[in-house]
Amino acid sequence: MNVAQKFGPAFTLESADAASLDQLRHQAEGCTRCELYKNATQLVFGEGSQKADIMLVGEQPGDKEDIAGRPFVGPAGHLLDICMEEAGLDRSRCYVTNAVKHFKFEPRGKRRLHSKPNAGEIRRCSWWLGAEIEIIHPKLVVALGATALYSLLGAKVKLTPERGHVLTPEDHPPVLVTIHPSFLLRIREEEDVARQRANFIEDLHRAVQYQGN
Ligand code: URA
Repeated sequence: MNVAQKFGPAFTLESADAASLDQLRHQAEGCTRCELYKNATQLVFGEGSQKADIMLVGEQPGDKEDIAGRPFVGPAGHLLDICMEEAGLDRSRCYVTNAVKHFKFEPRGKRRLHSKPNAGEIRRCSWWLGAEIEIIHPKLVVALGATALYSLLGAKVKLTPERGHVLTPEDHPPVLVTIHPSFLLRIREEEDVARQRANFIEDLHRAVQYQGN
């Protein structure tokens, strides 16, 4: 059953028009589609091979990513790397990106606290994500958390009931639904962390079969 059959009228992921990732990145660097470019240090574009079989989509760059200009290089990225390795996924062969390409934050003294992107910001930025998918055409897209899922499949598809499932949209590659690694960083109970971490690795392991030799 595809996503439209299960959740009603198909949601369309619109996309920019570019012939290559370099061209797309260049276009995205000048993005003013929402206000987030104004306070972020820089655009954090996706990273990885144009021939990747698997694309992982996070929420938005964090403080470290905003400074480095690279996705998933902070604490959540470190945890993602460890879990991917345990799941048998080679990050160097994947393409890693975010639903939203600029860091959204609240200044608190010298710190910048992560602030969730809103629906409008996610929708406007999906223009770039849609084009990344069109150019790479991965065999599988992994939605890491609710923001990525919303960006890829719209508001009707919810994370909790679909977690661990591979959903098949009509207009782009299948989507594996899982949590965002930062969720694991926020759990306080040790037992829960171990359980949730194991579940996350199990979810990621489902992607291995999509990774060619
Ligand atoms: N969280 C994300 O969703 N993406 C990043 O790049 C870093 C943290």
